[in-house]
Amino acid sequence: MDRRTDQQRDRLAAHVFVCTTDRDSEYACCGDAGAEETLEAVKTWLRERNAFWSPIGVSTTGCLALCSEEGTAITIQPRNEWYANVRPDDVPALLEAEFGPNAQRVGGDSGSEPDRNAARTDD
Ligand code: FES
Repeated sequence: MDRRTDQQRDRLAAHVFVCTTDRDSEYACCGDAGAEETLEAVKTWLRERNAFWSPIGVSTTGCLALCSEEGTAITIQPRNEWYANVRPDDVPALLEAEFGPNAQRVGGDSGSEPDRNAARTDD
């Protein structure tokens, strides 16, 4: 076993987890709500800003307990931010609110707080 915490902390400022759960069930799942398209939108937005994987990681994940027919669940760690019902068209506003228009707002001491209200639709 190798502890790689320091290496990852140096490389990653945040990690976006996109639920891509696809299940054959009566219950809603992100896989049926455009998860793959939303995942691609996340990757594209970060690639266009040269931020994909360094300093912002992206991974698929299993169920985040935010299942919906309306869109995909996303969490951004270690910020402890959680989004449900994310559609591909929502991704630019969501990521801009978290990381700034050019993905420059990634560190803990890099400036102002994210304008998370820009991506909110529930309050
Ligand atoms: S299936 Fe995605 S949050 Fe449950």
